Amino acid sequence: MSNNLLQGKTGVIFGALDEQSIAWKVAERCNEEGAKIVLSNAPVAMRFGKINELGEKINAPIFSADATSMEDLEKLFTGATEHFGGKIDFVLHSIGMSMNVRKGKPYTDLNYEFMQKTFDISAMSFHRVMQTLWKQDAMNDWGSITALTYIAAQRVFPDYSEMAESKALLESFARSFGYHFGTRNKVRVNTVSQSPTFTTAGSGVKGFKEFFDYADKMSPLGNASAEACADYCVFLFSDLSRMVTMQNLYHDGGFSNMGMNPAVLGL
Ligand SMILES: NC(=O)c1ccc[n+]([C@@H]2O[C@H](COP(=O)([O-])OP(=O)(O)OC[C@H]3O[C@@H](n4cnc5c(N)ncnc54)[C@H](O)[C@@H]3O)[C@@H](O)[C@H]2O)c1
Repeated sequence: MSNNLLQGKTGVIFGALDEQSIAWKVAERCNEEGAKIVLSNAPVAMRFGKINELGEKINAPIFSADATSMEDLEKLFTGATEHFGGKIDFVLHSIGMSMNVRKGKPYTDLNYEFMQKTFDISAMSFHRVMQTLWKQDAMNDWGSITALTYIAAQRVFPDYSEMAESKALLESFARSFGYHFGTRNKVRVNTVSQSPTFTTAGSGVKGFKEFFDYADKMSPLGNASAEACADYCVFLFSDLSRMVTMQNLYHDGGFSNMGMNPAVLGL
């Protein structure tokens, strides 16, 4: 169902790999709400993912960009503004990858070169995206920039490993850049802290199925789905959220404020 909440708006969406990706659902919902979209993902995702299908479905051009490369990001945003014939209204950063998790390294035996790569891909890329947008003056006034994060930035979830620190850094970049973008352009910058969701990145975490079920029971509303996350992102990109900035917004069915739920103990 469309309410034309994003009619006339333009957005760049990073991170749609396949139909399970949260970014995929966000792109579809934004398109339904009337936005014009440009999609971007890493070169390797072009070969192994299904982003081309999404591009055709929502009539969005696709720009290959490694989010750790300033050159790629510069070309992407130049190409996007040319395609739109104007500046950008919203951006979704939906990028995450842990080298140490992928290589099966325990938290007490992390490889620091891997860790740097993880931080670069999962967190510094958000600063790179915003700095490129800033220098190109590519955002429309009253635009909206959002990145996806996880509550492991605040609480300990042992199997999330170095992604916890990546997310803490990501959320901090949102606050710090939110100040600059708000002051100059009235652009808002937020992070959405999403429930566990079955995706390629999510399922890479050890014991994900058990953890997903635990979080589902702990949350009074149950886990928030990728589709519900897409609805929330539409709200954040729409004019209805104009005065919300520099926030980490929990989209988790209430999980973040729970201490104990009898349902978890089977009571
Ligand atoms: N799935 C979950 O449980 C969950 C929960 C909370 C937050 N998140 C966050 O949501 C975001 C999206 O993840 P997802 O769960 O949809 O999984 P996903 O695997 O579908 O998406 C991750 C994306 O990151 C992209 N990526 C990796 N390296 C890149 C690079 N160098 N340059 C550009 N793109 C790169 C991948 O190609 C992929 O499209 C991530 O930030 C993730 O941490 C996921």
